[in-house]
Amino acid sequence: MRKEKLLDLLKQMTREEKIGQLVQVAGEVFLMDNVSVTTGPLKSLELSNEMLYQVGSILNIVGSEKIRKVQDEYLSKSRLKIPLLFMADVINGYRTVFPIPIAQGCSWDKEVVYNCTKISIQEAGASGANVNFSPMVDLVRDSRWGRVMESIGGEDPYLGEVFAKTMVEAYQGEDISKLGNAAACVKHFAAYGAAEAGRDYNTVDMSEREFRQYYLPAYQSAIENGAEMIMTSFNTINGIPASVNPWLLRELLRKELGFQGIVISDYSAIEETIAHGVCKDKKEAAYKAIMAGVDIDMMSNVYANHLKDLVEEGKVSERLLDEAVLRILTLKNKLGLFENPYGNTNEEREKKVLKSKHNLQAARKLTADTFVLLKNEQQILPLNKENKKIALIGPYADNISILGSWSIFSDKSKIPTLKHAFEEKMGTQNILYAKGSEILEEKEINPILIADGGKPIHIENEKEKQKQLLEEAIEVAKQADIIVLAIGEHYRQSGEACSRANIEISQIQQNLLNELSKLKKKIVTILFNGRPLVLKNIAEKTDALLEVWFPGTEGANSITDVIFGDVNPSGKLTMSFPQAVGQCPIYYNYYNTGRPHINNYRYVSRYQDIPTQSYYPFGYGLSYSKFEYSDLKISSNKMSKNNPITVTVKVKNYSNIPGKEVIQMYIQDLVASIVRPVKELKSFKKEYFRPWEEKQITFEITEEMLKFWNEKLEHKAEEGEFKVFIGSNSEDTIEEIFEYREAN
Ligand code: GLC
Repeated sequence: MRKEKLLDLLKQMTREEKIGQLVQVAGEVFLMDNVSVTTGPLKSLELSNEMLYQVGSILNIVGSEKIRKVQDEYLSKSRLKIPLLFMADVINGYRTVFPIPIAQGCSWDKEVVYNCTKISIQEAGASGANVNFSPMVDLVRDSRWGRVMESIGGEDPYLGEVFAKTMVEAYQGEDISKLGNAAACVKHFAAYGAAEAGRDYNTVDMSEREFRQYYLPAYQSAIENGAEMIMTSFNTINGIPASVNPWLLRELLRKELGFQGIVISDYSAIEETIAHGVCKDKKEAAYKAIMAGVDIDMMSNVYANHLKDLVEEGKVSERLLDEAVLRILTLKNKLGLFENPYGNTNEEREKKVLKSKHNLQAARKLTADTFVLLKNEQQILPLNKENKKIALIGPYADNISILGSWSIFSDKSKIPTLKHAFEEKMGTQNILYAKGSEILEEKEINPILIADGGKPIHIENEKEKQKQLLEEAIEVAKQADIIVLAIGEHYRQSGEACSRANIEISQIQQNLLNELSKLKKKIVTILFNGRPLVLKNIAEKTDALLEVWFPGTEGANSITDVIFGDVNPSGKLTMSFPQAVGQCPIYYNYYNTGRPHINNYRYVSRYQDIPTQSYYPFGYGLSYSKFEYSDLKISSNKMSKNNPITVTVKVKNYSNIPGKEVIQMYIQDLVASIVRPVKELKSFKKEYFRPWEEKQITFEITEEMLKFWNEKLEHKAEEGEFKVFIGSNSEDTIEEIFEYREAN
């Protein structure tokens, strides 16, 4: 529809119809019978039936049959036949589930992230999703926060920029109305990952400079690459909740970044500004949110029940209302919904695309590149398939709950477990299985179940059962040549509202490992988790340690591909793993302080009881190959504004195993007008090496890479000396010095 026609449509709309476009409700209200909907969600949401048939969008209802039913039902009662928008949380896959986003980021491979994202939206689009609440690009430094599992860039702003762009391109393509594309909604704006003490929804308070330097770049990258929508976060930004923060939404987002798309609040976040204590009631919340620039009120009745009065009282101009409505009509038009309200969904396409053989094969390959090999003593991995008896032990040894907590549309049927995958590779006769322990004890799982609205469980004779499981595991382990232990977090221990003050593996699982280690057999540990954990007690008792996160539908098969060497692991951590939870937040690009911990002098910045550095650093990950770095050369030690320099390094694979290596380039600004981090990732290259192959890798250093936000909030480079570091992670590097001068 041409823009003029949209404007005509806008002119025909009543004020109620306009306000309806700014309201989003959960889609199931349209699937319930009239009585249940009236006495249920409409009652709790205090929404009228009329308003229900004027809402502009619904969330988390997809599927060809449902979409058609809901759209038909809605349009039959819509005076102007303005179609509904269907929005969804397809965070790491739809029916085919891919690794959780933090794992995808650990591939350090744009193609891996692109393909996981592309297949996800092809499946979700075949089921009618118009808008996807992704990418989540919040920078994260504190693994007490459960949502680190969703962060595609982890603790680094540059990775966040790169993968934000990659995901928006994958979701939206050239035209969001085309088959296999949809609109991306970047979230959570802004700095939600900096919640104090890692407690979800908690206060965020930082200087604008810090915000611009670290937290803003990934959102900005998504916006500059055309993200159609942005979601406001639950947290405050310098004392004002994001959803009612005019500086954040009007000054920064609209004026400075030029964002033309739709701003949607997070789930009831506008109403929650009352609890924050910045709005006395819903009417004030409606006023502050619309004035700040939120277009859609997700799952609260604040706009539905109060915007009309505000406009009639002249407190909110009709123009402001029209601007918001026009943005929503524009997106619906871009999606082609006026011509085809069902989008690209139809049942035969669903049958063909969802969890297709192609998608599963792709998932198996892509997933293997997200794993991070953390330890491999005496190259115990890869295992050979010759007749070795393997004791496959642990609560994740035969468990399908490996999809992560956002896999809400997944098909949980036929998910291969590790036991299936190992038996497929080795034959059933060579795999001895024992559960060994539960993931959590009753006292640990019940608070989670109750918080989910479920009933607490009671494990009769729990201690007795634990003893029995342990004894079985020991018996099985005694008969085997090697132990493969599959342990981790419960999938509901990471994700939204999953903050933890203790980020270790549960005690019952640690006990299992402790008892197995007494057998003095080799142990390979496979870790299923959504966040960096404190792993000291695990790592010290295991010979090999493979971080697989929550790997998704094909995860078990991908794991055996890596364990048996069909795939050489190549992942690198995008978040530092702490020595202890007391180190959180911990990140590699820290400031040196005036008393860096470089010796054992008492009066330095350190802890008395643990080492200062991380347990596993940002960028770290082992390979079955052995990569050596040498001959770092710089094209000139003097760089100027228009004369970038290059650095080259030789990387050689000193092994007969082909593999991929992520060569990382970091820069340090040695002296500047404000303190600068000890190093910052500025580029990386993931390269494939044949056995014994040596490559010369070249990076360009540009003036842009040296810029930072100074005390006057100018984004500029300053003259002076810099260090460039090249290496396989943020700690093991070789370095060179160079000087930057503005003039040649
Ligand atoms: C949730 C999450 C957000 C999600 C939204 C819709 O509370 O914070 O990431 O997209 O609500 O489900």
